[in-house]
Amino acid sequence: MQLTDSRALVTGATSGIGRAIAEAFGREGAHVLVAGRDAARAAEVVAGIVASGGTAAPVIADLGAPDGIAVLVEAAKAHGPIDVLVNNAGIYPMSGTAQTDEATFEATMNLNVRAPFFLTAAFAPLMAAQGRGRIINISSIAAHLGTTGMALYGASKAALELLTKAWAAEFGPAGVNVNAIAPGPTRTPGTAPMGAGLDEFTSGFPAGRPGVPEEIAGAAVYLAGPGAAFVHGATIVVDGGRMAI
Ligand SMILES: NC(=O)c1ccc[n+]([C@@H]2O[C@H](COP(=O)([O-])OP(=O)(O)OC[C@H]3O[C@@H](n4cnc5c(N)ncnc54)[C@H](OP(=O)(O)O)[C@@H]3O)[C@@H](O)[C@H]2O)c1
Repeated sequence: MQLTDSRALVTGATSGIGRAIAEAFGREGAHVLVAGRDAARAAEVVAGIVASGGTAAPVIADLGAPDGIAVLVEAAKAHGPIDVLVNNAGIYPMSGTAQTDEATFEATMNLNVRAPFFLTAAFAPLMAAQGRGRIINISSIAAHLGTTGMALYGASKAALELLTKAWAAEFGPAGVNVNAIAPGPTRTPGTAPMGAGLDEFTSGFPAGRPGVPEEIAGAAVYLAGPGAAFVHGATIVVDGGRMAI
């Protein structure tokens, strides 16, 4: 097991990619704090981790709410020091620039940029003080492509990737590894409304199919584990080969 004696906080762990990361961390021996808004789904994820022999607890907060980040920080700190923070919670509204209203802009930037920023501001100095820690930001290949309908979402993830590098510079010297993962299209409850469209969209990629959350979680286990000690400020692209062609 790669994460024994680690305590990991995973945002958006009640669904999709975050849930798969939480479950994989649990299998690797981490104590997992399962963060989300939906207490029932958080309890279900926690029960699954415990049933598989791991340990976990729910931490409930709305990261889009004005006090949501402070609520989550306080709830997580009550469990003890955090060794691994995964900034995964995110939304991906898709619309043309002229069709995007200010409420959507604010909601996207609040969850995709503001929440990772202030969660890192809260936990990275504590990790630095203990001389070790891992921060993993879940970006997207949308950060690397100019795509109609994804201007706002792509910009939010491009900001997160720049923050990944800035935080590597800021906290790396104190023993905190900050990295990102850029998934390609992945089947999750969030992308379920795309239905067969996701298969069509990915059919021309080298993998020829969408990813599954467990395939993204594997990269997170690597970045949280001992094998990634020399990896700082990197983005691992896990996209079925889309960015290669
Ligand atoms: N799926 C893809 O194709 C894909 C591709 C590239 C990147 N990504 C990125 O991967 C991450 C996860 O995507 P996903 O597809 O797994 O998403 P998902 O299935 O829609 O799950 C989103 C998670 O975020 C949480 N969340 C949403 N709003 C929140 C809020 N205001 N406060 C706290 N938590 C909130 C949800 O929890 P609650 O409902 O319990 O609050 C849920 O656990 C996102 O950052 C996304 O941008 C996804």
